[in-house]
Amino acid sequence: MDEATGLEGRVAIVTGAGSRGDGIGNGRAAAVLLARRGARVALVDSVPEWARATQTMIENEGGSSFVAEADVSDPASCSSCVERVVERWGAVDILVNNVGVGGPAGDVVEVDPEAWEQCLRTNVTSMMLMSKYCVPQMRQAGGGSIVHVSSVAGLIGGHPNIAYPVAKGAIIPLTRAMAAQHGADGIRVNAVAPGMVYTPMVATSPGMTEAVREIRRGRSLLGTEGTGWDVGEAVAFLAGDRARWITGTVLTVDAGATAGRRDFSPNLSRERQPA
Ligand SMILES: NC(=O)c1ccc[n+]([C@@H]2O[C@H](COP(=O)([O-])OP(=O)(O)OC[C@H]3O[C@@H](n4cnc5c(N)ncnc54)[C@H](O)[C@@H]3O)[C@@H](O)[C@H]2O)c1
Repeated sequence: MDEATGLEGRVAIVTGAGSRGDGIGNGRAAAVLLARRGARVALVDSVPEWARATQTMIENEGGSSFVAEADVSDPASCSSCVERVVERWGAVDILVNNVGVGGPAGDVVEVDPEAWEQCLRTNVTSMMLMSKYCVPQMRQAGGGSIVHVSSVAGLIGGHPNIAYPVAKGAIIPLTRAMAAQHGADGIRVNAVAPGMVYTPMVATSPGMTEAVREIRRGRSLLGTEGTGWDVGEAVAFLAGDRARWITGTVLTVDAGATAGRRDFSPNLSRERQPA
């Protein structure tokens, strides 16, 4: 086990902790890393067999976890899920709101209004709902840590569809407002905003060819694609006590994609740059 991270013995809930097949999604990676550092992890997913695969990975490393089937877009399902965790382990110290779906295609003219509503419900309302039932537990324990998984799509323009970036963007004020509202209770609330991460969701999305992957790499300052592990590391850091003085922040995990462009002024040589 790693040297003390403040995760030892903590009770963590990770939503969307499953992932298709053997692939490493952001939630699966976060769950495995939290467990590796000593947390007991409730693996929440609407597809229990995907979460069970994560559980097997954790068991193989000697960690502690259980599968809690739930649909995080449904209030009753969220409430009963948190209840099950508290019944089992007596507390909730960490909540990772990771569930996110691509949502419907189209700009504002084309998008289907019902599919838009469903996208916001699954991507944003779910985070409010899970927090609604976890915050009282954290208050009772004298503190806690919540990490929301946003996206660079919520920080900058350029996404082809309207629903996904709006939903991911809404997670930023959610994070800051919650950090302000619950700081006095010792509850930290932060977000990670992943960039071009190659997870099973991305690998199986239509049109994901090697050429597209090359374009994705080119969008980052490092010229590489990330993995679920890169996101999981950021989540595990923010979740634990090493981040004890960090709240209300949005940590981009994007190889610099939102910091700037490699070819910002391709027409200017270094010599001709103004001082
Ligand atoms: N992959 C990327 O490039 C990327 C980039 C930026 C942000 N993100 C965000 O990271 C998060 C995880 O993405 P991923 O690529 O690892 O996804 P993934 O599809 O591999 O995993 C998501 C999991 O969430 C579960 N899930 C979906 N709806 C649910 C619901 N209503 N209730 C409970 N579980 C549900 C799925 O069953 C799945 O196991 C999402 O919030 C996504 O928006 C991903």
